[in-house]
Formats: sequence, structure tokens, C-alpha cells
Amino acid sequence: MYKETDFKKIEINTDPPLTEPERQYYYIALCRELVRREAERLGRPLTCCVTTFGCQMNARDSEKLTGILKEAGFAEAGEEQADFVIYNTCTVRENANLKVYGHLGLLKHRKKNNPSMRIALCGCMMQEPEVVEKLKKSYRFVDLIFGTHNIYKFAELLAETLGSKGQLIDVWEGTGQIVEDLPVERKYPFKSGVNIMFGCNNFCSYCIVPYVRGRERSRRPEDILKEIETLAAEGVCEVMLLGQNVNSYGKTLENPISFAELLRRVERIDGIARIRFMTSHPKDLSEELIQVMRESKKICRHLHLPLQSGSTRILQAMNRKYTKEQYLELVARIRREIPDISLTTDIIVGFPGETEKDFLETLDVVRRVRYDNAYTFIYSRRTGTPAASMENQVPEEEVKSRFDRLLALVQKNAKAQTARFADTVQEVLIEEVNKHDTAFLTGRTSNNLLVHFPGDASLVGSIRRVRLEASKGFYYMGTLISE
Ligand code: SAH
Ligand code: SF4
Ligand code: F3S
Repeated sequence: MYKETDFKKIEINTDPPLTEPERQYYYIALCRELVRREAERLGRPLTCCVTTFGCQMNARDSEKLTGILKEAGFAEAGEEQADFVIYNTCTVRENANLKVYGHLGLLKHRKKNNPSMRIALCGCMMQEPEVVEKLKKSYRFVDLIFGTHNIYKFAELLAETLGSKGQLIDVWEGTGQIVEDLPVERKYPFKSGVNIMFGCNNFCSYCIVPYVRGRERSRRPEDILKEIETLAAEGVCEVMLLGQNVNSYGKTLENPISFAELLRRVERIDGIARIRFMTSHPKDLSEELIQVMRESKKICRHLHLPLQSGSTRILQAMNRKYTKEQYLELVARIRREIPDISLTTDIIVGFPGETEKDFLETLDVVRRVRYDNAYTFIYSRRTGTPAASMENQVPEEEVKSRFDRLLALVQKNAKAQTARFADTVQEVLIEEVNKHDTAFLTGRTSNNLLVHFPGDASLVGSIRRVRLEASKGFYYMGTLISE
């Protein structure tokens, strides 16, 4: 519907419609007029910059923000030049949160030199009342603040900010609403994230996501499939289905459907050559999903299966709902059915009460699973989560030393796992011209391994066969196989 909308023809001298997404289309048209007038006054085009912190879901949200800004008439620019700067924030760990305050200091300075500049903040951090309080008090130069639940209203909030002065704050506690059919500007022409669900119901005891993203809501399969068909028609060949726990997709829909069934339907879409998904909670990974992955020609040979801890005792305190043995058994089943799969994971070190013995259990799982890669995090205390008020927080030096030991093992494994592809020929989706040497291209195998090889920029976006020659630890140097 949005594709057929001509924003120039929308009448903005009437009241805005009350239904979505029409209401947002109206505000996009209004923004266009405001941007046009301001650009005329300044004698130059207005520019914008969207900066993203955090996960793939935030990255996808940022593409939606960019889509609206571009429809509103902004041209994209670097942060230093931009008239409209928006930070899409993350608060999963404290350092994500601190980074934003650091950047804001710089923006304040820049705004002094460019009075027509507007600064906006949105995303997960804004759902924390203490953050908004702090911004209200000490960061008055921020023009617009909104949260994760009303991001679909961005055009409306943008119009209000452009048409007025002062700090506008609109943060909601929750929503059941999913608004479809808003503009989006993809970062890559050939691959795209696709939200299949929003929010999270799992309440892992360390995690702030359920509080800042709200309850789990699945998009209707029809809407997802329609979006992917459109993407395929536009030349997208790889989709990444996104959700905090994709394995529980569809359970709360009026007509429930399993994640595995959704994958079967996505598989049937012509033009889509690769399907990825993120993230898979081990407790909900079904036998049906393993079978669908096994039989699929399109689902990539990569599974991200967050472990968090290898100690059953800690897993229980984390509210993860699986034991060390269940996790290992699941991995064994997956490996048996899909031997060529790559496994990656997330691990937290230093959860309250973690002893040396618990930590050794984590190392034991890492040793046994031999992950292709693992993202390791130092436990970060998040206000409002159950773990934050647990008494037995682990001393910092102890955590640091465990973290280093874990990282060393993870890297050793990753190197060995990467080496298993030496001298094989793999299908590679070519993603970009190499940043360091433009004679080289960079692509990704189905197993999510990066490969650099000599080639021409015209190949970007296509899937080609590449021989993986020299393993460099975490990536390969290779050569293109001529067709
Ligand atoms: N929904 C995904 C994870 C999203 S957050 C899942 O369940 O796997 C990404 C990762 O951040 C988590 O897997 C976890 O390892 C890490 N993380 C979340 N909260 C954290 C905290 N308080 N401290 C440290 N790491 C954390
Ligand atoms: Fe956080 Fe757990 Fe939900 Fe993942 S599943 S987002 S770790 S609460
Ligand atoms: Fe961060 Fe929010 Fe994602 S807290 S990890 S951006 S869901």
C-alpha cells in the first residue's frame, strides 16, 4: 500500500486520519512540507543521520526510521553534517547505555554551531524511566524522545518536532499494536532483516529486554510472507527472520502456527535463496524445526543457540528453563541430523553467585560443543531485573579473570572449527567490496563464515562459488570459481 502512495497528493490542510498507517502517511506529507520550507529558508537540502546501537532488531527499526526521514525529504549524511540526528539506543548492558551519554556530549557542542539542528533519541534505553528523568533534567538540548512501542508513530512525532521548539517526550508503557506497511530504507539491496515478532515473555533474570520491549507479539504469517515476496521482487535474496525467541513464534496468534511451518512457507518464495533467523531459545527448539532445517535447501547451515551458562544451578537462577544436560543433548541431536551446521552462542560470565565450579561447567560445555564462534559478555547489573537485587554479586577481578579464560578457549575452538572448511568450495553471498583493498570482495558462506577474494564490484549482491584456501583464524582468503 505504501508503495502506491503518492505523498505529494495527500491533502495536509485537513485533519489527520485516525486509522494506521494512513495517519502516518498524512504526517509524512506534512513533514515533506516542513522540510521543504526549512530547506528553502537555508538555501540547501536538509540532512539526517540515524545511528544504531544494539541488536539486529534495532538495526531493522533504524531502517524504518531512515525510510520515513527520506520520504520526508531529508538526504542522508554523516553525523557531523546532519541537521537531524537520531540515536536508536540499546540498554542490554550498562556500557551500551553509557556510550549514548558519551555521544550526546559531542552533539550538544555541534548543535551550538547549527541552530537548525534537531536531536532525537529512541529505542530501548528510553523505556527506562530513570533515563528519561536524567534527559529531562540534564539534556534539555535533546528535542525528541520516544520509546520502542510507538516507533510506528515516528512521522507524527517528527512533524511535531519540526514544527515546534522545546523537548517533546512520548514514551509508552506497552502496546498490542503492530502497524504494517510503513516506509523502510534497506541498508543492503540484496539482504534484509524481517521482524516476525516483537517483545519477549521469557524474563531471563538478568535481562532487561522484556521490560523495554514489552510482551511477545507475533506478526501474522500473511503479513510476513507478503513482505518477503515484495523483498524478493525487489532483488533481495537473503532474509534474516528476527525475534527475541523465534522458536515461540506464532503461539499467541488467533490462528496459531509454528515457527517451523512459517519457515516452510518462506522456503516456497521464489527469488529467496537463503533464510537465516535469530534468536533461537534452546528451551523452545522443536524437533519439527530440526527436520525443516535438515530438509531445507534455503535455510543456512548456521544456528545461534545461546547457552548463557553451562551450570545447571546458574541456568536455573537465570530462569533459562533448561539444564546443562538438556542443552548438550539438544546440540547432539542437531549435529546428528544436520552434520554440516555451524553453531554459535552467547555466554554470560559472572552472573550473581557464579562459583569457580559453575564457571568450569561453562568451560566444559564450550569444550564439548566446539562452537564456531561465541559472543562472551561480562554480567551487567540491570535495574529492575531480578538478578540485580541478588546479593552474591561476583567480585570484578574474579569475573575479569574468568572472562579472559573463556575467551581464550572460545578463540581456540573458533580457529579449529574455521579450519575445517579449508580447501572446500562454498556458495558465497557477496556482500561488499573489501574496505581495505578494493581489488577484493567480501562475502559470507551459508555457515556464516567471512571470505575475502579478488573480484569485481559488479558481483556484489550475487551468490557465487568460492574456493576457501587460507584460513586466517576467523575468516578465509579464497578465489572465485569461474562459471
Ligand atoms: N533473546 C536473545 C538474547 C538477546 S540479548 C536470547 O535469548 O538469546 C543478547 C545477549 O546479551 C544475550 O544472549 C545475553 O548473553 C546478553 N545479555 C543480556 N542481558 C545481559 C546482562 N544483563 N549482562 C550481560 N549480558 C547480557
Ligand atoms: Fe532476554 Fe531471555 Fe528474552 Fe533473550 S529470551 S531477550 S535473554 S529475556
Ligand atoms: Fe539492546 Fe534493545 Fe536489542 S536492549 S539488544 S537494542 S532489544
